[in-house]
Amino acid sequence: MFGLLLLSSFNLIYHVYSINDCLDLNISLIRTIDRSGFHNKIKWMVEFLPSDLEELKRAEAKFALYIKIPSGMYVNPDEIDDLSRLAEYSVYIDGRVNVEAPENEAKPHDVFIFLPELYGDKVEIILPVHLRYQLAKIGGGFGKVHLSKPSLLMLTPRKSFKTCGDHLQIKAPCNADNLTKCYWSNISYEAVRLYH
Ligand SMILES: *[C@@H]1O[C@H](CO)[C@@H](O)[C@H](O)[C@H]1NC(C)=O
Ligand SMILES: *[C@@H]1O[C@H](CO)[C@@H](O)[C@H](O)[C@H]1NC(C)=O
Ligand SMILES: *[C@@H]1O[C@H](CO)[C@@H](O)[C@H](O)[C@H]1NC(C)=O
Repeated sequence: MFGLLLLSSFNLIYHVYSINDCLDLNISLIRTIDRSGFHNKIKWMVEFLPSDLEELKRAEAKFALYIKIPSGMYVNPDEIDDLSRLAEYSVYIDGRVNVEAPENEAKPHDVFIFLPELYGDKVEIILPVHLRYQLAKIGGGFGKVHLSKPSLLMLTPRKSFKTCGDHLQIKAPCNADNLTKCYWSNISYEAVRLYH
C-alpha cells in the first residue's frame, strides 16, 4: 500500500508526455537599449516561468534569437568575435557586413544569438549595434532606425516534447560554429519594452 502511494506521487512529479500533451509556454522578452549616439547596446532579458523551465530542461530545449539588422545599422564582426569568447551565448552573423558603408549603400544582415543551456529562469543577452551614417544627415549625425522584434526560435531534440499551438518552422543554423541548418520552431512570446 505504502509503495503504491509512493509510486503514484512520483508520477505526479515526473510528468510524462503522452502524444496529445503539450506545454503552454509563457516566455517574456524584455528589451532595453543603452544609447550613446552611434553606438548602442541592445539588452534582452529572456524570462521563463519556473514551471516551464523544468519541462524545457528535461526536453533539452535550445533557444535562439533571430534578429534582422536593417541597413541603417550594423553589428561589428570583430566585436561579435570578442563577445562570443566572453559571453555564455554565441552569436552568428549571416551575411557580409561592411562596417564603413553609409546606409544607402549597405545591406541588411541577419544575426542569430544562441542562448546558453538553460539553468535559470532569466537569461540576459547584450548585442552591441552601431548606427550608419545616413546620406541626408551627413555632418548632421543620424536619424531613426527601426529595429523589428526578434524571432524567438526553439529546437527540441525530443520528438515526444510538444508545445501548444502551431509554430512556423524556420531553417536556420544549428549553432554558431557549424553551418549545418536545423528546423527551429518560431515561438511566440510576450514583448516588453523598457526605456531609459
Ligand atoms: C505569463 O506569465 C505572466 C507572469 O506569471 C503572467 O502575468 C501572464 O498573464 C502570463 N501570460 C499568459 C498568456 O499566460
Ligand atoms: C553540426 O551541428 C549538428 C547539430 O547540432 C550536428 O549534428 C553535427 O554533427 C555538427 N557538425 C559538425 C561538423 O560539428
Ligand atoms: C515568427 O513569428 C512572428 C509572429 O509570431 C513573426 O512576426 C515573425 O516574422 C516570425 N519569424 C520568422 C523568421 O518568420
